[in-house]
Parts: sequence; C-alpha cells; structure tokens
Amino acid sequence: MDKILVTGGLGFIGSHTVVELQNEGYVVVIIDDLSNSSENVLDGITSITGKTPVFEKLDLKDRPKVESFFAKHSDIKGVIHFAASKAVGESVQEPLLYYENNISTLVYILKELKKLPSASFIFSSSCTVYGQADELPITENAPVKQAESPYGNTKQIGEEIIRDTCKVTPDLKAIALRYFNPVGAHETAKIGELPIGVPQNLVPFITQTAIGVREQLSVFGDDYPTPDGTCIRDYIHVVDLAKAHVVALGRLLQNKNKTNYETFNLGTGTGSSVLEVIKAFEKVSGEKLNYKIVGRREGDVISAYADTAKANNELGWKTKLTLDDAMRSAWKWEQVVRKKD
Ligand SMILES: NC(=O)c1ccc[n+]([C@@H]2O[C@H](COP(=O)([O-])OP(=O)(O)OC[C@H]3O[C@@H](n4cnc5c(N)ncnc54)[C@H](O)[C@@H]3O)[C@@H](O)[C@H]2O)c1
Repeated sequence: MDKILVTGGLGFIGSHTVVELQNEGYVVVIIDDLSNSSENVLDGITSITGKTPVFEKLDLKDRPKVESFFAKHSDIKGVIHFAASKAVGESVQEPLLYYENNISTLVYILKELKKLPSASFIFSSSCTVYGQADELPITENAPVKQAESPYGNTKQIGEEIIRDTCKVTPDLKAIALRYFNPVGAHETAKIGELPIGVPQNLVPFITQTAIGVREQLSVFGDDYPTPDGTCIRDYIHVVDLAKAHVVALGRLLQNKNKTNYETFNLGTGTGSSVLEVIKAFEKVSGEKLNYKIVGRREGDVISAYADTAKANNELGWKTKLTLDDAMRSAWKWEQVVRKKD
C-alpha cells in the first residue's frame, strides 16, 4: 500500500486523518515539530488502529532536514500538509512568524515534490478565504476576499503558490481543501483537540467552561441579522473531515482528478448559531453552561456555511455525523483530558 507523509500529523485534524488513513491500509509517516502537539498522541493513534505510524520529529522550516527526509523516503506517493500555525489573534501580533512557518514549509515541501516522478498533494485551506461571502451557502466559485488576518492570508497565498506550481508541473496533482469549522473528537476519546492556553474556538471553550477550567463563556453579540442574533458557522465533525482527506487523496492517486489543481469546500452545508451549539452541548451532556452575551467581537463574519454540492458530487464524500455527535465526543474527550491532568 502507498506510503503517505502527513505533516502536522500529531495535531488535531492530522491525528484523526492518520487514523483514517491507517484504517484504509495506507502506510503513514508523520512529521511534526511538536510546537502545538505532544508525542503522546502517537499512543492514542496506536491504540485506535493497532498500528504505530513512523514519526519524525522535524521542523519543516529547516530546509536541509526536509531534503534529507525526502531523500530517505523517496517512495512517498502523497503528502497531506497540515503543519501550520493557526491562531488568528497571534498572527496579527506576530505576522512574520506566521508567514515564515506557513509559507516556507509549503515551499520546501513543493520543491521536494517537484523532484519526484509524480506526487499527490493535499493542502489544509480554510473557509476564511471567503471572508463574509456575498451569497450563502458558499460555493467554491465565491470570490476570495481580502484576508482579515495574516493567518488567513497565509491560506490564500498558500493556495496561489500551489496553483502556480501545478501550472508548470504537470506531474504534480494537488487539492486544496477549504475547511469550515472542525469540531469534536474521536468516539474512543483517545485523540481530540488539545488547545494550548485559552481556546480560540467555540467548542473547546464550551467544554472547558463546563468542566470548570474557564469560568464563563462569552457570546460575542446577539444583535446580528440571524434568526437568534448570534453568528452562524458550519460545524463539521473532525472524523468526517478526516475521511474527506482519504477520499481526496484516493482521487489523486487514482488519477480521477479533472485538473491538476482543484479546490473543495468541506462542511456539512448547515449553519448553526452560537446559541444552537450551546443548546446542543447542554442536551447531550446534561450540563448547564455558564455563558453571557457580550458585545460584538471585531472581525467576526456574521454567517458562513458551505455549499457542499461539489464535494458531494465530484469527490463522492458527504458528512455522516451530526452536531450532537460532535458535542458528545468533544465532551467525552474533555473529561478524559482533565482526568489525565
Ligand atoms: N482547526 C481549525 O479550525 C482549522 C480550520 C481551517 C483550517 N485549518 C488548518 O488545518 C491544519 C491543521 O489544523 P489543526 O487544527 O489540526 O492544527 P494543530 O495545531 O492541532 O496541528 C498542526 C500541527 O502542525 C505542527 N507544526 C506546526 N508547525 C510545524 C513545523 N514548522 N514543522 C513541523 N510541524 C509543525 C504542530 O505541532 C501541530 O501538531 C492547519 O494548517 C490549519 O491552519 C484548521
């Protein structure tokens, strides 16, 4: 079976994708520098799949090390590139750190892939490229808007770098996957999201508040033009998202792609408001959440959810898990994490 490199494979989405790749029989090699993850995640993966992936602790900003990695693993058939820094607020404070980590790592990997007779490449992009879209649901043809943060800009620039490279490299096949809002954890609660410090995202903030790590959840604004006044997002279960990577990779490995650079939205197609997510959490956990409505937060998009037709019809993938499933698994995971503390 084909050997696949997963960069950032010990992170949140990467670890779930490694599990799904191994379940499909792929041989997985992980590169991660542990800047936002821990080596213990390997044990979680192994206890789910019964197989331990090869792990190379390596900083992808170190070009000579990236070169020697590819020289050693010249039989790699595909790369799923998750490794990146992802905190939007931090990217505003430290733009160069974000441009360096998210762009140089991408360039170094593409340079190595160009040397191979053929290669398949999957890139973690984001619905942030659409900003506040003019039309909902958002299709892949919606215009890319001026990025709101250096982080968002690295995704836009990343997509352009891949597109330009594919244009002049016919043997390179690439797909950029634009994720909506990944949430939840593996149903075994052996892997999940491990935010360092104060969570930037709603769901880990909810579970940490419910378990007592945070005192209260702030809901930023209830006067938006949405049915209950709170912002709307498309929350996709991380296991559904992970499976989409396996499908996208298979499309490239089996030459089913239509062009050598494609983009797909990955979402459920349904928008949920912040209050709906809180209600879903309270229902599945039986916990009452301490939250309060505060003023709007600058830069928040009002509403974003995916048009999933292209992913459903062309990739042949659709989500199976619900928001309730996601909240249940996230809560189970939070309880396991706190027990370990
Ligand atoms: N989680 C989200 O909400 C979301 C949404 C859209 C897109 N994305 C993108 O998906 C990808 C994965 O996100 P995630 O939530 O799993 O993040 P994560 O931080 O959990 O995982 C990223 C992993 O990459 C590693 N890493 C970072 N820089 C590295 C480097 N220079 N060399 C080697 N390893 C490095 C980190 O240690 C971490 O394990 C990222 O590219 C992110 O921008 C995430």
